[in-house]
Amino acid sequence: MSESTEAVLELGYLGLEVSDMPRWRRFAAEVLGMSVENGLADERGHASTRLRMDQAPARLFLVNGDADDCAFAGWRLSDESALARFCAKLDRLQLTWQAASPAELQLRSISAMVHFCDPAGNRHEVYCGQSPASTPFVSSLIAQGFVTGAGGMGHIVYEVPDCKAQQAFALEVLGLRWSDTILAEPVPGVEIEIDFFHANERHHSFAIGPRPPRPGPVKKVHHFMLEVHDITEVGRARDRCLAFGQPVTMEIGEHPNDRMVSFYAQTPSGIHVEFGCHGVHLDEKTWQPQVHRGISLWGHRSPNSTKAMT
Ligand SMILES: [Fe+2]
Repeated sequence: MSESTEAVLELGYLGLEVSDMPRWRRFAAEVLGMSVENGLADERGHASTRLRMDQAPARLFLVNGDADDCAFAGWRLSDESALARFCAKLDRLQLTWQAASPAELQLRSISAMVHFCDPAGNRHEVYCGQSPASTPFVSSLIAQGFVTGAGGMGHIVYEVPDCKAQQAFALEVLGLRWSDTILAEPVPGVEIEIDFFHANERHHSFAIGPRPPRPGPVKKVHHFMLEVHDITEVGRARDRCLAFGQPVTMEIGEHPNDRMVSFYAQTPSGIHVEFGCHGVHLDEKTWQPQVHRGISLWGHRSPNSTKAMT
């Protein structure tokens, strides 16, 4: 791969700054089925939690803080020479970047990382050399485990003020490829465009849209997505979520582009988690991007509505 096309390989991890760590730890363990481990203190000395989904030492890092939002997204590169080429690209694009501190590397169990911001101010990290966990991943709730592998941990969807600038960031900086676009009308009379980008066989690892008018605090991220192997695991997670007392914000439905069958729940931080199965695997040689109308083929209705999400 040439220097000019250096691209990230997967969404490897996410970091969330959370104000209610005890509830988040219970939500992750008792609803999502992740394994919860105590992490090291972050660079500010704040306690952290590692959430595992597979053999990676963590896929979600929870750090104490008031933001209740995404703090960073980690994108994997193959090795240190790829990281050096990526930094050269950042320099060429005149994007300011910083090397990770020893504490940041230790927190994430990685050997090298640099970080920089997208046009909306969201922090992204590119890294390499993550050591696998020394113990196998075990979930008492998700018998078959999560779908990760070549597709990475899942996807993240940002709500941004300038979608064009964010599209350029996805393509030119991260090196992602356009998967497709959805035109939707989440609020009557308000049409929005959501753009989806892939790094690998997962239909999208990164998506962007504007923030539609809605009450509540403004978050950088609308949701992140975790995938399991079948609909039984999705339905059981929904049951656990309701029993736990965390709101289901969109009922089970199917998206027209990645064909994910999923429900959405509000996390203890207010941002949403999409929990789904059966997402398509994309073959870049034959994939034809297209524009879809409507967020869902069926379902994904809000719990108080009889109308499917469009
Ligand atoms: Fe999603």
